Amino acid sequence: MRPLQCILRVQRSLRWEWMTSVSWLLLKTCRAHSTLPSTACPSPGQQEDGVRKDFSSRLASGPTFQHFLSASAPQEKPCSPEAEDPPPYLTVDELLGRQRKVYLETYGCQMNVNDTEIAWSILEKSGYLRTSNLQEADVILLVTCSIREKAEQTIWNRLHQLKTLKTKRPRSRVPLRIGILGCMAERLKEEILNREKMVDLLAGPDAYRDLPRLLAVTESGQQAANVLLSLDETYADVMPVQTSPSATSAFVSIMRGCDNMCSYCIVPFTRGRERSRPVASILEEVRKLSDQGLKEVTLLGQNVNSFRDSSEIQFNSAVSANLSRGFTANYKAKQGGLRFSHLLDQVSRVDPEMRIRFTSPHPKDFPDEVLQLIHERDNICKQIHLPAQSGSSRVLDAMRRGYSREAYVQLVHHIRESIPGVSLSSDFITGFCGETEEDHLQTVSLLREVQYNMGFLFAYSMRQKTRAYHRLKDDVPEEVKLRRLEELITVFREEASKANKICVGCTQLVLVEGPSKRSATDLCGRNDGNLKVIFPDAEMEDAANPGLKVRAQPGDYVLVKITSASSQTLKGHVLCRTTLKDSLAYC
Ligand code: 5AD
Ligand code: SF4
Repeated sequence: MRPLQCILRVQRSLRWEWMTSVSWLLLKTCRAHSTLPSTACPSPGQQEDGVRKDFSSRLASGPTFQHFLSASAPQEKPCSPEAEDPPPYLTVDELLGRQRKVYLETYGCQMNVNDTEIAWSILEKSGYLRTSNLQEADVILLVTCSIREKAEQTIWNRLHQLKTLKTKRPRSRVPLRIGILGCMAERLKEEILNREKMVDLLAGPDAYRDLPRLLAVTESGQQAANVLLSLDETYADVMPVQTSPSATSAFVSIMRGCDNMCSYCIVPFTRGRERSRPVASILEEVRKLSDQGLKEVTLLGQNVNSFRDSSEIQFNSAVSANLSRGFTANYKAKQGGLRFSHLLDQVSRVDPEMRIRFTSPHPKDFPDEVLQLIHERDNICKQIHLPAQSGSSRVLDAMRRGYSREAYVQLVHHIRESIPGVSLSSDFITGFCGETEEDHLQTVSLLREVQYNMGFLFAYSMRQKTRAYHRLKDDVPEEVKLRRLEELITVFREEASKANKICVGCTQLVLVEGPSKRSATDLCGRNDGNLKVIFPDAEMEDAANPGLKVRAQPGDYVLVKITSASSQTLKGHVLCRTTLKDSLAYC
Protein backbone atom coordinates (compact mmCIF):
# COMPACT_ATOMS: atom_id res chain seq x y z
CA MET A 1 0.00 0.00 0.00
CA ARG A 2 1.24 3.47 -0.83
CA PRO A 3 2.08 5.46 2.28
CA LEU A 4 -0.51 8.16 2.48
CA GLN A 5 -1.70 10.39 5.21
CA CYS A 6 -5.33 11.18 5.66
CA ILE A 7 -6.59 13.55 8.23
CA LEU A 8 -10.07 14.23 9.43
CA ARG A 9 -12.06 14.81 12.52
CA VAL A 10 -13.89 11.56 13.08
CA GLN A 11 -16.73 10.96 15.43
CA ARG A 12 -15.77 11.01 19.04
CA SER A 13 -16.60 7.33 19.26
CA LEU A 14 -14.00 6.42 16.64
CA ARG A 15 -10.40 5.92 17.69
CA TRP A 16 -7.52 7.53 15.81
CA GLU A 17 -5.39 4.95 14.13
CA TRP A 18 -1.81 5.58 13.16
CA MET A 19 0.08 4.47 10.12
CA THR A 20 3.74 3.61 10.46
CA SER A 21 4.73 4.03 6.81
CA VAL A 22 3.87 7.73 6.81
CA SER A 23 7.37 8.64 7.95
CA TRP A 24 8.78 7.23 4.69
CA LEU A 25 6.79 9.77 2.76
CA LEU A 26 7.77 12.56 5.10
CA LEU A 27 11.43 11.74 4.53
CA LYS A 28 10.85 11.95 0.80
CA THR A 29 9.17 15.33 1.22
CA CYS A 30 12.03 16.75 3.30
CA ARG A 31 14.63 15.50 0.82
CA ALA A 32 12.85 17.26 -1.99
CA HIS A 33 13.06 20.50 -0.05
CA SER A 34 16.74 20.09 0.77
CA THR A 35 17.50 20.72 -2.91
CA LEU A 36 16.16 24.27 -2.69
CA PRO A 37 18.78 26.93 -3.52
CA SER A 38 20.18 28.67 -0.47
CA THR A 39 19.86 32.46 -0.57
CA ALA A 40 20.19 35.25 1.99
CA CYS A 41 16.51 35.90 1.81
CA PRO A 42 14.78 32.52 2.06
CA SER A 43 12.15 31.66 -0.53
CA PRO A 44 8.64 30.90 0.70
CA GLY A 45 9.52 27.23 0.31
CA GLN A 46 12.67 27.53 2.46
CA GLN A 47 10.99 29.68 5.06
CA GLU A 48 8.47 26.97 5.58
CA ASP A 49 10.92 24.08 5.45
CA GLY A 50 11.79 24.03 9.14
CA VAL A 51 8.22 24.55 10.14
CA ARG A 52 7.19 21.80 7.77
CA LYS A 53 9.66 19.31 9.29
CA ASP A 54 8.23 19.94 12.73
CA PHE A 55 4.73 19.79 11.32
CA SER A 56 5.56 16.58 9.48
CA SER A 57 6.74 14.82 12.61
CA ARG A 58 3.56 15.81 14.42
CA LEU A 59 1.56 14.70 11.45
CA ALA A 60 3.25 11.32 11.48
CA SER A 61 1.05 10.49 14.41
CA GLY A 62 -2.17 11.14 12.45
CA PRO A 63 -4.89 8.68 11.49
CA THR A 64 -4.45 6.32 8.55
CA PHE A 65 -5.52 7.05 5.04
CA GLN A 66 -7.37 3.74 4.80
CA HIS A 67 -9.34 4.69 7.87
CA PHE A 68 -11.20 7.31 5.88
CA LEU A 69 -11.28 5.67 2.50
CA SER A 70 -12.72 2.40 3.66
CA ALA A 71 -15.38 3.96 5.85
CA SER A 72 -17.71 4.47 2.94
CA ALA A 73 -20.74 3.49 5.00
CA PRO A 74 -22.64 6.64 5.95
CA GLN A 75 -21.70 8.05 9.34
CA GLU A 76 -24.29 8.92 11.93
CA LYS A 77 -23.00 12.39 12.69
CA PRO A 78 -21.98 15.16 10.34
CA CYS A 79 -18.42 16.37 10.36
CA SER A 80 -18.43 19.72 12.01
CA PRO A 81 -14.84 20.62 12.75
CA GLU A 82 -15.78 24.15 13.70
CA ALA A 83 -17.46 22.71 16.77
CA GLU A 84 -14.29 20.97 17.90
CA ASP A 85 -10.70 21.75 18.74
CA PRO A 86 -8.09 21.23 16.04
CA PRO A 87 -6.57 17.76 16.04
CA PRO A 88 -3.42 17.40 18.20
CA TYR A 89 -1.03 17.26 15.23
CA LEU A 90 -2.13 20.61 13.75
CA THR A 91 -1.95 24.04 15.29
CA VAL A 92 -4.70 26.59 14.68
CA ASP A 93 -2.22 28.48 12.46
CA GLU A 94 -1.61 25.51 10.23
CA LEU A 95 -5.32 25.27 9.56
CA LEU A 96 -5.39 28.79 8.17
CA GLY A 97 -5.16 29.60 4.50
CA ARG A 98 -2.34 32.13 4.94
CA GLN A 99 -3.53 34.07 1.88
CA ARG A 100 -3.03 31.07 -0.41
CA LYS A 101 -5.00 31.57 -3.62
CA VAL A 102 -7.65 29.02 -4.54
CA TYR A 103 -8.93 28.42 -8.06
CA LEU A 104 -12.21 26.49 -8.17
CA GLU A 105 -13.52 24.81 -11.30
CA THR A 106 -17.01 23.28 -11.45
CA TYR A 107 -18.22 20.37 -13.59
CA GLY A 108 -21.69 18.85 -13.84
CA CYS A 109 -25.01 19.84 -12.39
CA GLN A 110 -26.31 22.79 -10.40
CA MET A 111 -25.73 20.83 -7.19
CA ASN A 112 -22.03 21.04 -7.97
CA VAL A 113 -22.24 24.80 -8.51
CA ASN A 114 -23.79 25.01 -5.07
CA ASP A 115 -21.15 22.68 -3.62
CA THR A 116 -18.45 24.92 -5.07
CA GLU A 117 -19.87 27.89 -3.19
CA ILE A 118 -20.11 25.84 0.03
CA ALA A 119 -16.49 24.73 -0.32
CA TRP A 120 -15.44 28.29 -1.02
CA SER A 121 -17.40 29.66 1.92
CA ILE A 122 -15.53 27.23 4.22
CA LEU A 123 -12.13 28.08 2.75
CA GLU A 124 -12.74 31.82 2.80
CA LYS A 125 -13.47 31.63 6.52
CA SER A 126 -10.12 29.87 6.95
CA GLY A 127 -8.19 32.72 5.35
CA TYR A 128 -7.85 31.56 1.75
CA LEU A 129 -8.21 34.00 -1.15
CA ARG A 130 -10.09 33.17 -4.34
CA THR A 131 -8.64 33.70 -7.77
CA SER A 132 -10.12 33.36 -11.23
CA ASN A 133 -6.62 33.25 -12.72
CA LEU A 134 -5.32 29.70 -12.96
CA GLN A 135 -1.72 30.90 -13.27
CA GLU A 136 -1.69 32.64 -9.91
CA ALA A 137 -3.42 29.80 -8.02
CA ASP A 138 -1.70 27.99 -5.14
CA VAL A 139 -4.54 25.50 -4.85
CA ILE A 140 -6.68 24.17 -7.72
CA LEU A 141 -9.87 22.39 -6.76
CA LEU A 142 -12.06 20.61 -9.31
CA VAL A 143 -15.66 19.99 -8.22
CA THR A 144 -16.47 16.86 -10.19
CA CYS A 145 -19.34 14.83 -11.65
CA SER A 146 -19.62 11.05 -12.09
CA ILE A 147 -23.07 10.68 -13.57
CA ARG A 148 -21.81 9.55 -16.97
CA GLU A 149 -18.49 8.17 -18.20
CA LYS A 150 -18.01 11.24 -20.41
CA ALA A 151 -18.20 13.59 -17.43
CA GLU A 152 -15.36 11.71 -15.72
CA GLN A 153 -13.26 11.59 -18.90
CA THR A 154 -13.40 15.39 -19.07
CA ILE A 155 -11.87 15.55 -15.58
CA TRP A 156 -9.09 13.08 -16.42
CA ASN A 157 -8.21 15.19 -19.46
CA ARG A 158 -8.19 18.33 -17.35
CA LEU A 159 -5.91 16.67 -14.81
CA HIS A 160 -3.38 15.94 -17.56
CA GLN A 161 -3.32 19.64 -18.44
CA LEU A 162 -2.91 20.63 -14.81
CA LYS A 163 0.01 18.22 -14.44
CA THR A 164 2.07 20.49 -16.71
CA LEU A 165 1.20 23.50 -14.60
CA LYS A 166 2.35 21.70 -11.48
CA THR A 167 5.64 20.41 -12.88
CA LYS A 168 6.54 23.77 -14.43
CA ARG A 169 5.87 25.71 -11.22
CA PRO A 170 8.95 27.69 -10.15
CA ARG A 171 10.53 26.47 -6.90
CA SER A 172 10.42 30.02 -5.55
CA ARG A 173 6.67 29.68 -5.19
CA VAL A 174 4.80 27.48 -2.71
CA PRO A 175 4.09 24.12 -4.34
CA LEU A 176 0.84 23.95 -6.29
CA ARG A 177 -1.80 21.70 -4.69
CA ILE A 178 -4.49 20.00 -6.76
CA GLY A 179 -7.69 18.61 -5.26
CA ILE A 180 -10.64 16.58 -6.53
CA LEU A 181 -13.91 17.37 -4.81
CA GLY A 182 -17.38 15.86 -5.09
CA CYS A 183 -18.80 12.80 -6.81
CA MET A 184 -15.67 11.56 -8.59
CA ALA A 185 -13.66 11.69 -5.37
CA GLU A 186 -16.40 9.67 -3.71
CA ARG A 187 -16.75 7.12 -6.50
CA LEU A 188 -13.10 6.44 -7.27
CA LYS A 189 -11.47 7.17 -3.93
CA GLU A 190 -7.78 6.14 -3.91
CA GLU A 191 -7.91 5.07 -7.56
CA ILE A 192 -7.57 8.77 -8.41
CA LEU A 193 -4.53 9.17 -6.15
CA ASN A 194 -2.95 6.07 -7.63
CA ARG A 195 -3.66 6.98 -11.24
CA GLU A 196 -2.78 10.65 -11.02
CA LYS A 197 0.11 11.10 -8.63
CA MET A 198 -0.11 14.87 -8.84
CA VAL A 199 -3.50 14.92 -7.13
CA ASP A 200 -2.90 16.00 -3.53
CA LEU A 201 -6.37 16.01 -2.08
CA LEU A 202 -9.71 14.19 -2.27
CA ALA A 203 -12.88 15.43 -0.58
CA GLY A 204 -16.25 13.70 -1.04
CA PRO A 205 -19.53 15.69 -1.10
CA ASP A 206 -19.97 15.42 2.69
CA ALA A 207 -16.38 16.34 3.57
CA TYR A 208 -16.08 20.00 2.56
CA ARG A 209 -15.90 21.17 6.18
CA ASP A 210 -12.70 19.23 6.37
CA LEU A 211 -11.01 21.10 3.50
CA PRO A 212 -8.87 23.41 5.70
CA ARG A 213 -7.45 20.39 7.48
CA LEU A 214 -6.95 18.37 4.32
CA LEU A 215 -5.10 21.30 2.75
CA ALA A 216 -3.00 21.70 5.89
CA VAL A 217 -1.89 18.09 5.53
CA THR A 218 -0.93 18.59 1.89
CA GLU A 219 1.41 21.38 3.03
CA SER A 220 3.83 18.65 4.07
CA GLY A 221 3.76 17.16 0.56
CA GLN A 222 1.47 14.30 1.48
CA GLN A 223 -1.80 13.30 -0.11
CA ALA A 224 -4.93 13.78 1.99
CA ALA A 225 -8.45 12.40 1.63
CA ASN A 226 -11.82 12.38 3.28
CA VAL A 227 -14.58 10.53 1.47
CA LEU A 228 -16.79 9.70 4.42
CA LEU A 229 -20.49 10.02 3.72
CA SER A 230 -22.79 11.41 6.36
CA LEU A 231 -26.41 10.68 7.28
CA ASP A 232 -27.20 14.26 8.21
CA GLU A 233 -24.69 16.71 6.75
CA THR A 234 -26.67 19.43 4.94
CA TYR A 235 -24.23 22.35 5.40
CA ALA A 236 -27.25 24.13 6.88
CA ASP A 237 -25.08 26.70 8.64
CA VAL A 238 -22.75 27.31 5.68
CA MET A 239 -24.24 30.10 3.62
CA PRO A 240 -22.89 29.75 0.10
CA VAL A 241 -21.14 32.86 -1.22
CA GLN A 242 -22.87 34.54 -4.16
CA THR A 243 -20.15 34.85 -6.78
CA SER A 244 -21.72 37.27 -9.21
CA PRO A 245 -22.87 40.51 -7.57
CA SER A 246 -25.17 41.28 -10.51
CA ALA A 247 -26.92 37.91 -10.24
CA THR A 248 -30.70 38.12 -10.26
CA SER A 249 -31.27 34.57 -9.08
CA ALA A 250 -29.75 32.05 -6.69
CA PHE A 251 -29.92 28.35 -5.94
CA VAL A 252 -30.70 27.31 -2.38
CA SER A 253 -29.85 23.77 -1.38
CA ILE A 254 -32.74 22.21 0.58
CA MET A 255 -31.71 18.58 0.69
CA ARG A 256 -28.84 16.29 -0.25
CA GLY A 257 -28.52 12.70 -1.38
CA CYS A 258 -31.07 10.31 -2.80
CA ASP A 259 -32.77 7.13 -1.56
CA ASN A 260 -34.46 6.21 -4.82
CA MET A 261 -31.84 3.86 -6.17
CA CYS A 262 -32.91 4.02 -9.80
CA SER A 263 -31.00 1.08 -11.25
CA TYR A 264 -28.87 3.18 -13.65
CA CYS A 265 -27.86 5.94 -11.27
CA ILE A 266 -24.62 6.47 -9.35
CA VAL A 267 -25.93 9.41 -7.31
CA PRO A 268 -27.09 7.44 -4.24
CA PHE A 269 -23.54 6.02 -4.05
CA THR A 270 -21.67 9.28 -4.52
CA ARG A 271 -23.93 11.64 -2.61
CA GLY A 272 -25.28 9.23 -0.03
CA ARG A 273 -28.59 8.98 1.77
CA GLU A 274 -31.35 11.51 1.46
CA ARG A 275 -31.42 14.19 4.18
CA SER A 276 -33.20 17.53 4.38
CA ARG A 277 -31.99 20.84 5.64
CA PRO A 278 -34.03 22.37 8.48
CA VAL A 279 -36.80 24.68 7.22
CA ALA A 280 -35.65 27.51 9.51
CA SER A 281 -32.18 27.65 7.98
CA ILE A 282 -33.57 27.56 4.42
CA LEU A 283 -35.90 30.45 5.23
CA GLU A 284 -33.02 32.41 6.74
CA GLU A 285 -31.01 32.02 3.53
CA VAL A 286 -33.97 32.98 1.33
CA ARG A 287 -34.62 36.09 3.47
CA LYS A 288 -30.99 37.09 3.12
CA LEU A 289 -31.15 36.69 -0.65
CA SER A 290 -34.33 38.75 -0.76
CA ASP A 291 -32.64 41.48 1.31
CA GLN A 292 -29.77 41.45 -1.21
CA GLY A 293 -32.34 42.22 -3.92
CA LEU A 294 -32.36 38.84 -5.67
CA LYS A 295 -35.54 38.16 -7.59
CA GLU A 296 -35.51 34.42 -8.06
CA VAL A 297 -34.69 31.42 -5.91
CA THR A 298 -34.47 27.82 -7.10
CA LEU A 299 -34.79 25.23 -4.36
CA LEU A 300 -32.18 22.64 -5.09
CA GLY A 301 -31.68 18.95 -4.36
CA GLN A 302 -31.49 15.49 -5.94
CA ASN A 303 -35.07 14.85 -4.96
CA VAL A 304 -36.51 18.14 -3.80
CA ASN A 305 -40.15 17.13 -3.49
CA SER A 306 -39.42 14.25 -1.13
CA PHE A 307 -38.18 16.93 1.29
CA ARG A 308 -38.78 15.98 4.92
CA ASP A 309 -37.41 18.09 7.74
CA SER A 310 -37.48 15.90 10.83
CA SER A 311 -35.32 18.22 12.91
CA GLU A 312 -38.20 19.53 14.98
CA ILE A 313 -39.65 16.78 17.07
CA GLN A 314 -43.15 18.31 17.41
CA PHE A 315 -43.76 17.78 13.70
CA ASN A 316 -42.75 14.14 13.70
CA SER A 317 -46.29 12.78 13.97
CA ALA A 318 -46.97 9.47 12.24
CA VAL A 319 -48.32 10.93 9.00
CA SER A 320 -46.98 8.88 6.12
CA ALA A 321 -45.97 10.22 2.73
CA ASN A 322 -48.58 11.00 0.07
CA LEU A 323 -47.26 9.65 -3.21
CA SER A 324 -48.63 10.58 -6.63
CA ARG A 325 -51.39 8.18 -7.70
CA GLY A 326 -50.03 4.96 -9.26
CA PHE A 327 -46.47 5.56 -7.99
CA THR A 328 -44.38 3.52 -5.56
CA ALA A 329 -41.10 4.19 -3.74
CA ASN A 330 -38.07 1.90 -3.64
CA TYR A 331 -37.77 2.41 0.11
CA LYS A 332 -39.83 1.83 3.25
CA ALA A 333 -42.51 4.51 3.79
CA LYS A 334 -41.10 7.42 5.78
CA GLN A 335 -43.23 9.19 8.34
CA GLY A 336 -43.54 12.60 9.92
CA GLY A 337 -41.49 15.73 9.43
CA LEU A 338 -42.22 18.96 7.59
CA ARG A 339 -42.91 18.18 3.97
CA PHE A 340 -42.19 19.94 0.68
CA SER A 341 -45.61 21.65 0.51
CA HIS A 342 -44.93 23.29 3.89
CA LEU A 343 -41.50 24.48 2.77
CA LEU A 344 -42.78 25.77 -0.56
CA ASP A 345 -45.56 27.64 1.21
CA GLN A 346 -43.14 29.25 3.67
CA VAL A 347 -40.49 30.10 1.09
CA SER A 348 -43.01 31.70 -1.26
CA ARG A 349 -44.25 33.97 1.56
CA VAL A 350 -40.80 35.48 2.21
CA ASP A 351 -41.00 37.95 -0.66
CA PRO A 352 -44.01 38.07 -3.03
CA GLU A 353 -41.76 39.72 -5.65
CA MET A 354 -39.33 36.79 -5.61
CA ARG A 355 -39.93 33.96 -8.07
CA ILE A 356 -39.66 30.46 -6.66
CA ARG A 357 -38.61 27.40 -8.67
CA PHE A 358 -37.41 23.96 -7.64
CA THR A 359 -35.28 21.24 -9.20
CA SER A 360 -34.99 18.33 -9.48
CA PRO A 361 -38.16 16.57 -8.34
CA HIS A 362 -39.20 12.92 -8.70
CA PRO A 363 -42.66 12.33 -10.26
CA LYS A 364 -43.67 10.07 -7.34
CA ASP A 365 -43.78 13.00 -4.87
CA PHE A 366 -46.45 15.30 -6.31
CA PRO A 367 -49.36 15.14 -3.87
CA ASP A 368 -52.32 17.43 -4.57
CA GLU A 369 -51.33 19.96 -1.90
CA VAL A 370 -48.09 20.70 -3.80
CA LEU A 371 -49.91 21.11 -7.12
CA GLN A 372 -52.56 23.28 -5.47
CA LEU A 373 -49.94 25.54 -3.96
CA ILE A 374 -48.13 25.98 -7.28
CA HIS A 375 -51.45 26.88 -8.88
CA GLU A 376 -52.49 29.37 -6.19
CA ARG A 377 -49.28 31.17 -5.31
CA ASP A 378 -48.44 33.90 -7.83
CA ASN A 379 -44.69 33.82 -7.25
CA ILE A 380 -44.27 30.03 -7.55
CA CYS A 381 -43.43 29.46 -11.19
CA LYS A 382 -45.83 27.27 -13.14
CA GLN A 383 -43.02 25.09 -14.30
CA ILE A 384 -42.46 21.44 -13.37
CA HIS A 385 -39.56 19.20 -14.24
CA LEU A 386 -41.01 15.70 -14.49
CA PRO A 387 -38.17 13.29 -15.34
CA ALA A 388 -39.75 10.37 -17.22
CA GLN A 389 -36.49 8.60 -18.30
CA SER A 390 -38.40 6.31 -20.69
CA GLY A 391 -41.80 5.93 -22.33
CA SER A 392 -41.80 2.14 -22.03
CA SER A 393 -43.27 0.52 -18.90
CA ARG A 394 -40.94 -2.44 -19.39
CA VAL A 395 -37.85 -0.21 -19.35
CA LEU A 396 -39.23 1.89 -16.48
CA ASP A 397 -39.54 -1.32 -14.50
CA ALA A 398 -35.93 -2.28 -15.28
CA MET A 399 -34.89 1.24 -14.26
CA ARG A 400 -36.79 0.79 -10.97
CA ARG A 401 -38.55 4.11 -11.41
CA GLY A 402 -41.65 3.03 -9.47
CA TYR A 403 -44.24 3.89 -12.15
CA SER A 404 -45.62 2.72 -15.46
CA ARG A 405 -46.01 4.82 -18.59
CA GLU A 406 -49.77 4.94 -17.91
CA ALA A 407 -49.31 6.25 -14.33
CA TYR A 408 -46.88 8.88 -15.63
CA VAL A 409 -49.25 10.05 -18.39
CA GLN A 410 -52.10 10.19 -15.88
CA LEU A 411 -49.94 12.38 -13.64
CA VAL A 412 -49.20 14.70 -16.58
CA HIS A 413 -52.95 15.10 -17.21
CA HIS A 414 -53.60 15.67 -13.53
CA ILE A 415 -50.86 18.32 -13.33
CA ARG A 416 -52.19 20.08 -16.45
CA GLU A 417 -55.71 20.11 -15.00
CA SER A 418 -54.47 21.38 -11.63
CA ILE A 419 -52.13 24.04 -13.04
CA PRO A 420 -53.46 25.40 -16.34
CA GLY A 421 -50.67 26.64 -18.62
CA VAL A 422 -47.97 24.76 -16.69
CA SER A 423 -44.67 24.32 -18.50
CA LEU A 424 -43.23 20.79 -18.40
CA SER A 425 -39.72 19.51 -18.88
CA SER A 426 -38.19 16.05 -18.58
CA ASP A 427 -35.06 13.86 -18.62
CA PHE A 428 -34.76 10.81 -20.89
CA ILE A 429 -32.14 8.11 -21.26
CA THR A 430 -31.69 6.26 -24.56
CA GLY A 431 -30.30 2.75 -24.88
CA PHE A 432 -30.78 1.52 -21.32
CA CYS A 433 -30.08 -2.19 -20.75
CA GLY A 434 -32.45 -4.31 -22.83
CA GLU A 435 -34.13 -1.34 -24.57
CA THR A 436 -35.62 -2.61 -27.84
CA GLU A 437 -36.62 -0.60 -30.88
CA GLU A 438 -40.23 -0.97 -29.74
CA ASP A 439 -39.35 0.47 -26.29
CA HIS A 440 -37.58 3.36 -28.01
CA LEU A 441 -40.64 4.07 -30.16
CA GLN A 442 -42.72 4.19 -26.99
CA THR A 443 -40.41 6.93 -25.70
CA VAL A 444 -40.77 8.78 -29.00
CA SER A 445 -44.55 8.55 -28.66
CA LEU A 446 -44.42 9.83 -25.05
CA LEU A 447 -42.46 12.88 -26.25
CA ARG A 448 -45.13 13.48 -28.88
CA GLU A 449 -47.98 12.91 -26.44
CA VAL A 450 -46.75 15.18 -23.64
CA GLN A 451 -45.14 17.86 -25.82
CA TYR A 452 -42.58 19.06 -23.28
CA ASN A 453 -41.35 22.66 -23.29
CA MET A 454 -37.82 21.61 -22.35
CA GLY A 455 -35.91 18.35 -22.42
CA PHE A 456 -32.60 16.90 -21.22
CA LEU A 457 -31.67 13.82 -23.18
CA PHE A 458 -28.79 11.41 -22.54
CA ALA A 459 -27.33 8.21 -23.95
CA TYR A 460 -27.08 5.53 -21.28
CA SER A 461 -23.70 5.17 -19.61
CA MET A 462 -23.21 2.11 -17.41
CA ARG A 463 -21.86 3.00 -13.95
CA GLN A 464 -20.14 0.57 -11.63
CA LYS A 465 -21.84 -0.12 -8.28
CA THR A 466 -25.34 0.51 -9.63
CA ARG A 467 -27.99 -2.21 -9.69
CA ALA A 468 -27.93 -2.22 -13.48
CA TYR A 469 -24.17 -2.86 -13.40
CA HIS A 470 -24.64 -5.90 -11.19
CA ARG A 471 -27.83 -7.33 -12.64
CA LEU A 472 -28.36 -6.14 -16.19
CA LYS A 473 -26.47 -6.18 -19.46
CA ASP A 474 -25.37 -2.99 -21.20
CA ASP A 475 -26.45 -4.59 -24.47
CA VAL A 476 -27.48 -1.67 -26.67
CA PRO A 477 -24.54 -0.85 -28.99
CA GLU A 478 -23.11 2.67 -28.61
CA GLU A 479 -24.09 3.67 -32.16
CA VAL A 480 -27.69 2.57 -31.52
CA LYS A 481 -27.82 4.57 -28.27
CA LEU A 482 -26.57 7.64 -30.17
CA ARG A 483 -28.91 7.14 -33.10
CA ARG A 484 -31.87 6.87 -30.72
CA LEU A 485 -30.63 9.96 -28.87
CA GLU A 486 -30.54 11.91 -32.14
CA GLU A 487 -34.08 10.77 -32.92
CA LEU A 488 -35.33 11.88 -29.51
CA ILE A 489 -33.62 15.25 -29.89
CA THR A 490 -35.31 15.80 -33.26
CA VAL A 491 -38.76 14.83 -31.93
CA PHE A 492 -38.29 16.86 -28.78
CA ARG A 493 -37.36 19.97 -30.83
CA GLU A 494 -40.37 19.59 -33.11
CA GLU A 495 -42.75 19.21 -30.19
CA ALA A 496 -41.17 21.96 -28.07
CA SER A 497 -41.41 24.35 -31.04
CA LYS A 498 -45.11 23.57 -31.31
CA ALA A 499 -45.62 23.96 -27.54
CA ASN A 500 -43.71 27.26 -27.44
CA LYS A 501 -45.52 28.69 -30.50
CA ILE A 502 -48.65 28.88 -28.35
CA CYS A 503 -46.93 31.83 -26.61
CA VAL A 504 -46.78 33.91 -29.80
CA GLY A 505 -49.08 36.92 -29.46
CA CYS A 506 -49.17 36.64 -25.66
CA THR A 507 -47.73 39.12 -23.18
CA GLN A 508 -45.34 37.48 -20.77
CA LEU A 509 -43.62 38.54 -17.57
CA VAL A 510 -39.85 38.32 -18.00
CA LEU A 511 -37.18 38.62 -15.34
CA VAL A 512 -34.27 40.44 -17.00
CA GLU A 513 -30.88 38.72 -16.67
CA GLY A 514 -28.69 41.01 -18.81
CA PRO A 515 -27.41 41.50 -22.34
CA SER A 516 -28.07 38.72 -24.83
CA LYS A 517 -24.97 36.66 -25.64
CA ARG A 518 -25.71 36.82 -29.36
CA SER A 519 -26.40 40.52 -29.80
CA ALA A 520 -25.24 43.61 -27.93
CA THR A 521 -28.47 45.42 -28.78
CA ASP A 522 -30.70 42.75 -27.23
CA LEU A 523 -31.52 41.83 -23.67
CA CYS A 524 -32.17 38.35 -22.33
CA GLY A 525 -34.43 37.14 -19.54
CA ARG A 526 -36.63 34.22 -18.53
CA ASN A 527 -40.38 33.78 -18.53
CA ASP A 528 -42.33 31.98 -15.82
CA GLY A 529 -41.76 28.66 -17.63
CA ASN A 530 -37.97 29.28 -17.49
CA LEU A 531 -37.69 29.73 -21.25
CA LYS A 532 -35.18 32.25 -22.53
CA VAL A 533 -36.81 35.41 -23.90
CA ILE A 534 -34.83 37.79 -26.15
CA PHE A 535 -35.96 41.34 -26.85
CA PRO A 536 -34.39 44.61 -28.09
CA ASP A 537 -32.89 46.82 -25.39
CA ALA A 538 -35.27 49.77 -25.83
CA GLU A 539 -36.67 52.58 -23.73
CA MET A 540 -39.98 51.76 -22.10
CA GLU A 541 -42.50 53.12 -19.68
CA ASP A 542 -42.32 52.30 -15.99
CA ALA A 543 -45.81 51.02 -15.09
CA ALA A 544 -45.51 52.38 -11.53
CA ASN A 545 -44.53 55.89 -12.78
CA PRO A 546 -46.49 56.73 -15.94
CA GLY A 547 -44.52 59.05 -18.18
CA LEU A 548 -41.15 57.92 -16.81
CA LYS A 549 -38.97 56.34 -19.51
CA VAL A 550 -36.56 53.66 -18.37
CA ARG A 551 -34.22 51.00 -19.73
CA ALA A 552 -34.44 47.48 -18.31
CA GLN A 553 -31.75 46.47 -15.84
CA PRO A 554 -30.83 42.95 -14.59
CA GLY A 555 -33.34 42.04 -11.90
CA ASP A 556 -36.18 44.10 -13.40
CA TYR A 557 -39.49 42.51 -14.30
CA VAL A 558 -40.68 43.58 -17.75
CA LEU A 559 -43.68 42.73 -19.88
CA VAL A 560 -42.73 41.37 -23.28
CA LYS A 561 -45.07 40.82 -26.22
CA ILE A 562 -43.95 37.52 -27.80
CA THR A 563 -43.56 37.68 -31.58
CA SER A 564 -41.77 34.41 -32.43
CA ALA A 565 -40.82 31.09 -30.84
CA SER A 566 -38.38 28.24 -31.45
CA SER A 567 -37.74 25.04 -29.50
CA GLN A 568 -35.48 26.87 -27.06
CA THR A 569 -36.16 30.59 -27.21
CA LEU A 570 -38.91 33.17 -27.42
CA LYS A 571 -38.46 36.57 -29.05
CA GLY A 572 -40.52 39.71 -28.61
CA HIS A 573 -40.59 43.42 -27.84
CA VAL A 574 -40.71 45.02 -24.45
CA LEU A 575 -43.87 46.88 -23.33
CA CYS A 576 -43.09 48.26 -19.88
CA ARG A 577 -41.28 47.74 -16.61
CA THR A 578 -43.53 46.32 -13.93
CA THR A 579 -43.67 44.21 -10.76
CA LEU A 580 -44.66 40.57 -10.34
CA LYS A 581 -47.83 41.62 -8.51
CA ASP A 582 -48.89 44.26 -11.07
CA SER A 583 -48.14 41.96 -13.99
CA LEU A 584 -50.98 39.63 -13.00
CA ALA A 585 -53.47 41.98 -14.60
CA TYR A 586 -51.78 41.52 -18.01
CA CYS A 587 -50.48 37.95 -18.21
N1 5AD B 1 -26.49 7.28 -17.97
C1 5AD B 1 -27.13 8.27 -18.66
N2 5AD B 1 -27.87 9.20 -18.07
C2 5AD B 1 -28.02 9.14 -16.73
N3 5AD B 1 -28.70 9.92 -15.88
C3 5AD B 1 -28.50 9.45 -14.63
N4 5AD B 1 -27.70 8.37 -14.66
C4 5AD B 1 -27.39 8.15 -15.97
C5 5AD B 1 -26.61 7.19 -16.63
N5 5AD B 1 -25.98 6.23 -15.97
C6 5AD B 1 -29.54 11.05 -16.31
C7 5AD B 1 -30.99 10.87 -15.86
C8 5AD B 1 -31.12 11.85 -14.74
C9 5AD B 1 -30.17 12.94 -15.21
C10 5AD B 1 -29.73 13.89 -14.14
O1 5AD B 1 -29.06 12.23 -15.70
O2 5AD B 1 -31.83 11.23 -16.94
O3 5AD B 1 -32.43 12.33 -14.56
FE1 SF4 C 1 -30.49 9.17 -9.55
FE2 SF4 C 1 -33.02 8.26 -9.53
FE3 SF4 C 1 -32.00 9.58 -7.39
FE4 SF4 C 1 -32.50 10.94 -9.65
S1 SF4 C 1 -34.04 9.90 -8.39
S2 SF4 C 1 -30.64 11.07 -8.37
S3 SF4 C 1 -32.03 9.41 -11.21
S4 SF4 C 1 -31.32 7.60 -8.16
